[in-house]
Amino acid sequence: MRELKSSTGIMHLNGRKIVTIGFLCTCMLVGIQGEQLDCSVDCACCKGGQSRCGNDPIRNNVCFDGCIPTKYGYKCKNPCWGNCFTCEQAYGLDCYTCKDSFYDISNRCTKTCSNGCQGGVCEDNGTCECYENFKGPKCETCVSGKYGTNCSQDCLYSGCRCTAKYDCDSCRDGYYDLKSNCSKVCSVGCVNGICYDNGICNCSRNFTGTLCTDCIPGLFGRRCDRVCYHKKCLCSSEFNCIHCKPGYFNITNNCLFACSSGCDNICEDDGSCTCKLHNTGVRCDVCESGYFGNDCSHECGIKDAQCLNCDRSGAVCHLCANGYYPNTNGSCILCGENCIGGVCNATNGKCSLGCKSGHWGARCESACNTNCTTCAHFSGVCEHCTSQEVHGLFCNMTCSKHCLGNVCDRDSGNCFKGCIKDYYGPQCDNRCSDTCKAIGEETTCDEVGYCFNGCVNGYFGDDCRAEPYEMTQTAKSEQKMGQVDNDEEEYERITVGQCYENAVK
Ligand SMILES: *[C@@H]1O[C@H](CO)[C@@H](O)[C@H](O)[C@H]1NC(C)=O
Ligand SMILES: *[C@@H]1O[C@H](CO)[C@@H](O)[C@H](O)[C@H]1NC(C)=O
Ligand SMILES: *[C@@H]1O[C@H](CO)[C@@H](O)[C@H](O)[C@H]1NC(C)=O
Ligand SMILES: *[C@@H]1O[C@H](CO)[C@@H](O)[C@H](O)[C@H]1NC(C)=O
Ligand SMILES: *[C@@H]1O[C@H](CO)[C@@H](O)[C@H](O)[C@H]1NC(C)=O
Ligand SMILES: *[C@@H]1O[C@H](CO)[C@@H](O)[C@H](O)[C@H]1NC(C)=O
Ligand SMILES: *[C@@H]1O[C@H](CO)[C@@H](O)[C@H](O)[C@H]1NC(C)=O
Ligand SMILES: *[C@@H]1O[C@H](CO)[C@@H](O)[C@H](O)[C@H]1NC(C)=O
Ligand SMILES: *[C@@H]1O[C@H](CO)[C@@H](O)[C@H](O)[C@H]1NC(C)=O
Ligand SMILES: *[C@@H]1O[C@H](CO)[C@@H](O)[C@H](O)[C@H]1NC(C)=O
Repeated sequence: MRELKSSTGIMHLNGRKIVTIGFLCTCMLVGIQGEQLDCSVDCACCKGGQSRCGNDPIRNNVCFDGCIPTKYGYKCKNPCWGNCFTCEQAYGLDCYTCKDSFYDISNRCTKTCSNGCQGGVCEDNGTCECYENFKGPKCETCVSGKYGTNCSQDCLYSGCRCTAKYDCDSCRDGYYDLKSNCSKVCSVGCVNGICYDNGICNCSRNFTGTLCTDCIPGLFGRRCDRVCYHKKCLCSSEFNCIHCKPGYFNITNNCLFACSSGCDNICEDDGSCTCKLHNTGVRCDVCESGYFGNDCSHECGIKDAQCLNCDRSGAVCHLCANGYYPNTNGSCILCGENCIGGVCNATNGKCSLGCKSGHWGARCESACNTNCTTCAHFSGVCEHCTSQEVHGLFCNMTCSKHCLGNVCDRDSGNCFKGCIKDYYGPQCDNRCSDTCKAIGEETTCDEVGYCFNGCVNGYFGDDCRAEPYEMTQTAKSEQKMGQVDNDEEEYERITVGQCYENAVK
């Protein structure tokens, strides 16, 4: 207001000038297109100006075309109620439009558009186009990290939403840990980069871990979009295996091996794990005694009733019930029938108490030799032979048939009674020479083969094996009939040996 017109009272009280604004005079000044209009003047605020003012049949100074905005009544002296820009003209009852920067027509535009609204104007529901740094449907809040009536000031803590510089009301999207003034940044693996105040978030594809900071097994890279070369590895770069995917182990082998099916859960990098029931061993790859199957859930006895401990397939028994042992195909069979008491080692079938008489071998599976009284359990060596006609440890070698009486020494096989006629040697396996002279039915040579009675004619030597004479070259040649060569030398016939006749008595 530039000046107060006469309708406004100016009182002087105790020397001070006090401006009094009467009820009817309130807001009489209206600025229209830069001009100030004093609506207390009749027809000053008629639409179209004073020229559109006149008398009608019942009243004077009627505005024919109604009032300029913000006024109503027939002389347009009354301001629209509230912040209405245009209102019903007779009594100002209805509000038609709001003044700039106000909204909510139905409540006479009592609400003010937000500071953030561009040009200060907004829709009747308060929504507007925001100035920079403002947000919200009514641009009523500052973007994260800004504060102030103009949202132009930065919060001290960049991760915070604030209403004053040092405040930290809540964390901006992408930040967490309010108590540290939102100093922590949500993982890139969080959906939309948003996390809860403890950093936990929903993981984006390819991320994992409580804070979504890890790549799912087999991928690597900041965005977890690169593939490890070794499919069973968690890697930090293409070829660098740092852990195994759950379910695999042995990093040095790029996680080539699967954890045992006996593991209750995933296994460590060395394959160790906690075992499922009935599985055992550091890697849980062994069944507890008595169980078999991939997960050791079957009792050995269901395949083979007598089996107490078997291999993983259940097919090969390692330990049988008393009285049984695993045979070569792995099934439990009765201990050897020749085991004393029918008892044997349940693992290997060895007869625990030895063999029944006449049997030998670890499982007493061998019979003692037929010519043996009883034999040693483990060697089969005979204690006594049933006859002297056999010899050897096992009494299974027949004495030489040239032994006198067919009998021989057990150990050596020597014919201890001597030899039959015309044989000699310890085991009588040599025949006396045919050239020994025979007398009656007596044997012709002694135990070293010397002839008892001399030699037949023409032979000599102790054993009469020397020929009576040796033929010279000539003698031999003479035998060749029709020989024409007369130049050949005549050789003396050498006769040796005759004098030795009867030399041996
Ligand atoms: C607010 O009013 C505008 C204009 O009438 C409209 O387009 C918008 O959908 C309204 N918004 C709400 C939240 O009602
Ligand atoms: C807000 O902006 C207006 C206009 O630019 C300026 O006059 C006022 O000082 C600002 N207020 C604050 C608190 O920055
Ligand atoms: C958080 O901000 C407040 C206000 O500036 C400060 O007093 C407090 O020490 C800050 N806390 C931490 C953990 O930085
Ligand atoms: C996580 O997902 C659930 C379900 O979609 C959703 O309700 C929740 O707001 C999400 N949390 C975050 C931090 O994104
Ligand atoms: C996930 O990883 C795969 C394999 O590298 C990649 O092709 C895909 O783009 C990734 N997904 C996202 C959302 O990054
Ligand atoms: C991994 O495999 C290699 C080769 O087979 C072997 O020498 C090594 O002992 C294994 N390491 C572990 C931890 O199992
Ligand atoms: C194993 O051998 C026994 C007899 O030696 C036989 O009765 C059984 O059928 C065999 N079992 C298998 C699985 O071959
Ligand atoms: C059965 O023989 C094995 C060796 O093959 C031995 O370790 C085990 O102690 C024996 N069992 C009994 C009950 O003597
Ligand atoms: C047992 O001795 C008899 C002679 O007493 C012999 O004929 C038989 O061949 C011998 N048997 C064995 C297996 O040595
Ligand atoms: C005698 O018996 C033993 C043991 O059974 C055997 O090894 C050997 O070959 C047998 N000898 C003969 C000549 O039968």
